[in-house]
Amino acid sequence: MRELTDEQVERLVAAAFAVRERAHAPYSGFAVGAALLDSAGRIHVGCNVENASFGLSICAERNAVAAAVAVGAEGFCGIAVVTSSEPPATPCGACRQVLAEFGDLPVVLANVHGARRLMHVGELLPAAFAGGFLHRTPG
Ligand code: THU
Repeated sequence: MRELTDEQVERLVAAAFAVRERAHAPYSGFAVGAALLDSAGRIHVGCNVENASFGLSICAERNAVAAAVAVGAEGFCGIAVVTSSEPPATPCGACRQVLAEFGDLPVVLANVHGARRLMHVGELLPAAFAGGFLHRTPG
């Protein structure tokens, strides 16, 4: 696992900060921005998009992953997530599982007050379900 450079962390946090402004969160009032770095150095962003049918709301992290995959991005190197929480919020369980699909990525948790915390997907979701299990069915 390659770690993020300080410059990459700054770029990711800035991008997550900016996209957070576009969050559609009229029900919770909790805006989230996420920025995902690929191996080509490109950043892919996502914000949370809520719905009047609450269960249809989509998280920022999963939107960032979907946006990246849709443009053919590969080799994800890390993700930043910006919220207003103190301490900075960690990704929800569903987003942890989606991120785990792409490896033990560094996850920069940041908030609008300037706090930062570096974690990894494997730490956030130990013993994740992974594709390897699909091929280990006896019989
Ligand atoms: N949310 C995210 O965007 N990412 C997470 O990992 C946790 C929660 C969003 C979903 C909803 O729009 C709002 O935050 C409150 O749960």
